[in-house]
Amino acid sequence: MSDFRDVTGKVAIVTGAARGIGKGIAETLAAEGMKVVVADILDLVHDTAKEIATKYPGSEAYAVQLDVSDEQAVKGMVEGAVAKWGKLDVMANNAGMHMHTGKVWETKEEQLDRVLAVNFKGMFFGCKYAALQMVKQKSGSIVNTGSFFGKVGHPDSATYGASKAAVHTMTQALAMELAEYNVNANALCPGLAASEMHWGFVEADAKKYGITFDEMKERELDEIPLHRYGYGKDLAGAIMWLATPSGEYITGQLINVNGGLDFT
Ligand SMILES: NC(=O)c1ccc[n+]([C@@H]2O[C@H](COP(=O)([O-])OP(=O)(O)OC[C@H]3O[C@@H](n4cnc5c(N)ncnc54)[C@H](O)[C@@H]3O)[C@@H](O)[C@H]2O)c1
Repeated sequence: MSDFRDVTGKVAIVTGAARGIGKGIAETLAAEGMKVVVADILDLVHDTAKEIATKYPGSEAYAVQLDVSDEQAVKGMVEGAVAKWGKLDVMANNAGMHMHTGKVWETKEEQLDRVLAVNFKGMFFGCKYAALQMVKQKSGSIVNTGSFFGKVGHPDSATYGASKAAVHTMTQALAMELAEYNVNANALCPGLAASEMHWGFVEADAKKYGITFDEMKERELDEIPLHRYGYGKDLAGAIMWLATPSGEYITGQLINVNGGLDFT
């Protein structure tokens, strides 16, 4: 294969990769021959990295357990990957959290601080240390996981939405700053994805409408034109595209990977 779409041997860091979308991203990148740092705050990250390395013999994957809101830990993770593999081709800043904070006037300051620290500052630090390396290399691709909630305000989600909106504008600013270094930066916006985080929303909505969990899922699936939930592999497809010459002309974009759920 020409290098037009080939990712073999490229080095990636995926945060929030112990489970959910991030795990699917890390697994797909490893299956395609990339070397992957599997990073997360949960202990589970060690099992996930082992599972990926065993499932795809010949692939290279190792775990880093960290809190992405800890700047020094993020710096150490990026420098560790570069020390081990000599470069960083893809930084997939995916770690994120949702906390039920209620309405703006119900939200406590410590809730606001934590959501912004993880969802915004965590991605900011990932971008900062990846960019420092990629500027030196004059190559690389940064992909942040954004959200539809960062494009359009939703009641009871002001904190989460604002954290994602901040990720979106930071990504656009970074894309312009990195353009002269042959590095692109984009954000992917999943729609409704099959993950622990999303099942929490489904459970809450089912309760609100007085229906079962499965009935709520059916209702959601009816709203997705492609009639299935999104998976990490769907985001991984876009990440690999953006990391090769086939996607190098794409930068500063908020790309929906959502089965046609919305067109914002
Ligand atoms: N599931 C959806 O429908 C949906 C939609 C839009 C955007 N997103 C975004 O996709 C990303 C992945 O979410 P998911 O749906 O897989 O949820 P998830 O809760 O299943 O996975 C998120 C992962 O991030 C990790 N994480 C959380 N805080 C962390 C921290 N401080 N440091 C390191 N790791 C941390 C968690 O431990 C978890 O493994 C998030 O950024 C989320 O906001 C999800």
